Amino acid sequence: MPLNIVIMAAGKGTRMKSTLPKVLHKLAGRSLLRHVLDTTAELGAQQRLVITGHGAEQVEAAVGGPGIAFVRQMPQLGTGHAIQQVAPHLPDSGSTLILSGDTPLISAATTGQLVEACGGERLVLLTIDYSDPTGYGRILRDGEAVKAIVEHKDASPEQRQIRECYTGIMAAPSAALKRWVGQLSNNNAQGEYYLTDIVAMAVAEGVPVVGVKTANETEVLGINSPLQLADLERRFQRRQAEGLMEQHGLRLADPARFDLRGSLVCGQDVEIDVGCVFEGRVELGDGVRIGAYSVIRNARIAAGARIHEFTHIDGEAQGASVGAGALIGPFARLRPGAELGAEVHIGNFVEVKNSTLAKGAKANHLAYLGDATVGERVNYGAGSITANYDGANKHRTVIGADVHVGSNCVLVAPIEIGAGATVGGGSTITKPVEPGELAVARGKQVAIKGWVRPTKKR
Ligand code: UD1
Ligand code: CA
Repeated sequence: MPLNIVIMAAGKGTRMKSTLPKVLHKLAGRSLLRHVLDTTAELGAQQRLVITGHGAEQVEAAVGGPGIAFVRQMPQLGTGHAIQQVAPHLPDSGSTLILSGDTPLISAATTGQLVEACGGERLVLLTIDYSDPTGYGRILRDGEAVKAIVEHKDASPEQRQIRECYTGIMAAPSAALKRWVGQLSNNNAQGEYYLTDIVAMAVAEGVPVVGVKTANETEVLGINSPLQLADLERRFQRRQAEGLMEQHGLRLADPARFDLRGSLVCGQDVEIDVGCVFEGRVELGDGVRIGAYSVIRNARIAAGARIHEFTHIDGEAQGASVGAGALIGPFARLRPGAELGAEVHIGNFVEVKNSTLAKGAKANHLAYLGDATVGERVNYGAGSITANYDGANKHRTVIGADVHVGSNCVLVAPIEIGAGATVGGGSTITKPVEPGELAVARGKQVAIKGWVRPTKKR
């Protein structure tokens, strides 16, 4: 039996007070609409139709992909009017699941349950009891049987006492849905075409209407304002934090001060201090410890490595990796293509980009390694840099094993420093250094005897 999914995302989202369409605002690093699309990808739908209107081009460009079709609703005359626009694209059999692009945390389990209950024959409404139901459509029941939905603005004082609300999520027989939305009128308090009016139509036709009540408020919370977005973000982060703590024994110093915007795979005995942000895909091996206020994106950190406070790691698309037992930070910066071997030390204000550091190499203070290959046990002095860019192209620096680079050196790439060589502090190296050599390239020190310092003029 064919399943079609419709995601309503045409509304303006006035209360966001933003130029960005509401459904493109992000929750845990993904747009609200992307959450809904990712969840519904698992349901095996024939097609997923996204109704766009406000900021349609932007929304379509942001989430387009295989199996996703867009239908524009211009102007936006209500949720019923939205479904009228997709009706011609729906088949005459099976079920249609209707979701909102601004309700991001609906689960695959709940939507699957609605689709199953619908079975192409019944109208299924997802409902919830709110202690403050103000603004929501109320579920009118006669005993157990659902009779209709009345919108808050159209409800009588008695109806407003009802706490069971419509969540905006339903599953309907596709053929009947198409027929019902064709019969809607906008004769109501808001002058809109209400999708919720189809409930009374179904009842009048004798089509069974099923109210499925959820107790999971987080799953059905819609976003209308920045405050609601931030509140849902915290709930979502809390849920992720608890999941990682329970499933993997992750030790978070404070689950309320943890942000994961992507996926985190972690081994045993991993500890994360407060205020850290993880983005993209991050893997932490056994016993890894992450210091406070570190930001880590697209990176693999091997067992026993220690990331000290305020470290920034961003592997972007290429990725970055830290070897077992390495010590990084505080205040270190690892960029795309940083591949650090076991027991590498990267200290404060050291930046590493597109460089490989072999086991035991150290750059402990104020340094830059870009486009470099660094051998085992190399000691790279404070203030030294690779001059990897000539203004047009990038060039490589190759540093052999056991090289000692003194402080404040400039290694002008392309350049190679042979194994065991020493580069004297303050040198600008432009010619290859042979293995074992000492290379010094700096102005010679002169001593001027009896020199008198200038004094201030009166
Ligand atoms: C709707 C329900 C209400 C329910 C509430 C739950 C109707 C008439 N009412 O009310 O019973 O309690 O959701 O949150 O359906 N949209 C369009 N085109 C439009 C209007 C809306 O695509 O012309 C989209 C919006 O972008 C949004 C969704 O539909 O994603 C819901 O619209 P919204 O205006 O928030 O509906 P409510 O008035 O909250
Ligand atoms: Ca709403």
